[in-house]
Order: sequence, then C-alpha cells, then structure tokens
Amino acid sequence: MKLQNRCVVITGAGSGIGRACAVKCAEEGANVVVADINEEGAAETVKQIQAAGGNAIACTADVADPVSVASLVQTTLQQYGKANALINSAAIQINKTVEDTSLEEWNTQMSINVGGIFLCSKLFLPHLKTTKGSIVSLSSVNAYFVEPSCAGYCATKAAIIGLTKAMAIDHGHEGVRVNCICPGYIDTGLAEGYFQSQPDPARARAEAGKLHALWRIGKAEEVAKVAVFLASDDASFVTGSAYVVDGGFGSGLPPK
Ligand SMILES: NC(=O)c1ccc[n+]([C@@H]2O[C@H](COP(=O)([O-])OP(=O)(O)OC[C@H]3O[C@@H](n4cnc5c(N)ncnc54)[C@H](O)[C@@H]3O)[C@@H](O)[C@H]2O)c1
Repeated sequence: MKLQNRCVVITGAGSGIGRACAVKCAEEGANVVVADINEEGAAETVKQIQAAGGNAIACTADVADPVSVASLVQTTLQQYGKANALINSAAIQINKTVEDTSLEEWNTQMSINVGGIFLCSKLFLPHLKTTKGSIVSLSSVNAYFVEPSCAGYCATKAAIIGLTKAMAIDHGHEGVRVNCICPGYIDTGLAEGYFQSQPDPARARAEAGKLHALWRIGKAEEVAKVAVFLASDDASFVTGSAYVVDGGFGSGLPPK
C-alpha cells in the first residue's frame, strides 16, 4: 500500500475527481479527510470509503474562507495528529467570456480556484514540513489550451501552475514536494456543467471526446491514480511538475 498510515486531506472531495482521489487514497491505506463545502457530498464520499473498509472523516469547509480552512487544519490534527498530503481539487467553473463576467464572479472564481489553494497550502505547510509531505493541486489542460467562454476559469488554471512551481522552489529544501495535474475532459459534474452551457449539450459531449487522441473523455479514477502517485513516496524526486493526464488532448488535433 502506497499511503499506509498517511493522513491525506482532500478538498472538493464531495464529488468528481476529489471523491475519486479520496477513495483511491483510502484503498492505498491512507486516513482521509474529505473536505467540501457540500456537506452531503462529503458524507457520501466517507460512506463509500467506510463501506469498502477504509478510514475517513468528513469536514465541511469553504476553501475560500480563512476561518473555515483553519478549522479544517484543526479537525485534521485532532483526528489524525498530522498531515502527510494535501490534494487541492475544489474549484468552480464559470462559463463566460471576460465581457460577460461580472467582477464579483471573477473574484469568487479566483478566490476558490486559486485563493483556496493558497489558503490551504499556507495553513497546512507548517504541518507538511513536519512530515516531509506533499501538495497536489488540480490544474487543467485549459491552463495551456483554452476554450471559448470560460476565460476566468482558464486564468485560474494557468495561475495554479505558477503557484505550484513557486511553492516547489520555496519549500523543496524543507522536504515538501509540490505538483499539479492537468487533466483533459473528465466525466464529472464540472464537465457536464460545461456541456450543458453549450447550445447542444449532447453534441458538445461527443465532440469533446474527439478532441482527445484516445477519442474519449477520461474517468475521475484515471486522474486519482496519478494523484496517489504524486502524493506517495513513488514520486520522491518529483516536484514543481505539471502532470498532463489528458488522453492526448494536448498532442494536437486527432483525425476526424
Ligand atoms: N472534470 C473535468 O473535465 C476537469 C478537467 C480539468 C481539470 N479539472 C479540475 O479538477 C478539479 C475537480 O473537478 P471535478 O470535475 O471533480 O468537479 P466537481 O464539480 O465534480 O467537484 C468540485 C468539488 O469542489 C467543491 N467545491 C466548490 N467550491 C468549493 C469551496 N469553496 N470550498 C470547498 N469545496 C468546494 C464542490 O462542492 C465539488 O464537490 C477542479 O479543480 C477542476 O478544475 C476538472
């Protein structure tokens, strides 16, 4: 088991990729803190983990709120006494052009997608230094290859790569590794929200698959396996990296 007796804190673990990471980490022996603003989603993830014989607790937390993140740290330490890895998966996606995006929407998306990683990393770093732990954040292929009508979202995903590299440089000598993952389209509620925002959602979903060399969109579990790798000692010499898990989305345009 790659994460035996490790404590892994996962934000956005109440659904999608975060939930898949939580389930996979628990399968690999970790004690998992399932953090999400959605209480029901977090409880469901914990239920799934416990039903499979794993160990997890739910913690309702808003990653954009410093008081809430401080409470997440406190809950983690009270329950498990340490933190070995932080997986930042919480995010929202506003499907609008800059012209259509209000300042409030811009600030909200920034404060969750980037500010949330800043706050969680800031408050967990003292504890990750103690355990020589690691941070894994969810960026996106949209950091490199943007798509129409999600300008602010693309900006947040590009910012995560810069933040990842900066934290890797600042904290590598303290034994903390920091990486991020750039998934292609993954079959979750977030992707479905994007499809639904398009004029023909079914067509948008089918077309999205064909943007990938593998001619399909990915599964949350396929991203979770890479997150487990990056959080584990298997990645002991990997830091400051943006891991592309995109089914070939970024390789070029596949044949029609
Ligand atoms: N699904 C994709 O196609 C795709 C592709 C590339 C990158 N990503 C990235 O992967 C990550 C996970 O996406 P997903 O597809 O699982 O999305 P999702 O919508 O299924 O899950 C996101 C979770 O974050 C939670 N959340 C939202 N705001 C929060 C807040 N303020 N505090 C705490 N939790 C909050 C939501 O409640 C939800 O459970 C995101 O960072 C996303 O940008 C997803």
